[in-house]
Amino acid sequence: MQRTAIYPGSFDPVTNGHLDIIKRGLTLFDKIIVTILENPEKNAFFTVPERIELLEASLKNIGNIEITSDGGLLVDFAVKHKAQAILRGMRAVSDFEYEFQMALMNRKLNRDIQTVFLMTGLRWIFTSSSIIKEAAQFGGNIKSMVPPVVFEKLKNIYKKE
Ligand code: PNS
Repeated sequence: MQRTAIYPGSFDPVTNGHLDIIKRGLTLFDKIIVTILENPEKNAFFTVPERIELLEASLKNIGNIEITSDGGLLVDFAVKHKAQAILRGMRAVSDFEYEFQMALMNRKLNRDIQTVFLMTGLRWIFTSSSIIKEAAQFGGNIKSMVPPVVFEKLKNIYKKE
């Protein structure tokens, strides 16, 4: 049986921390579907097509990956794609409460789909898409924290301002 995981998120934009989780996930799953879903708590900076483009460019050398987006419930998406698991990255303790709540809600909505947490590499423990965007906005050097395409994109946006 093929083991498939959904790796959902805002990916606004994809960071090296996300890539780290995907690579670790591929040691456990045959296929990972990277999916941009709506997080009602966040106002997106990049459009969905832009985020897909950045994911595609960043993951072009990695196999057994599919990249897509959806506007509905995560567990419904997982069923539609015959996935057994939801993959999420865990950084510090501060992530725990939100992740715990989301995992238990998803379990309540569909008991057949398991949430699997992987720890990010230590180098990425302090990074997030939000804090990277903030640093980039004020001229911080975020080159080592994001894939090259994301670095160029953020550089071009803030250079113009
Ligand atoms: O990267 P994020 O913003 O932490 O990802 C959160 C995301 C997009 C995975 C979450 O908001 C989500 O699953 N949205 C889709 C709607 C849904 O199914 N919500 C879960 C029920 S609590």
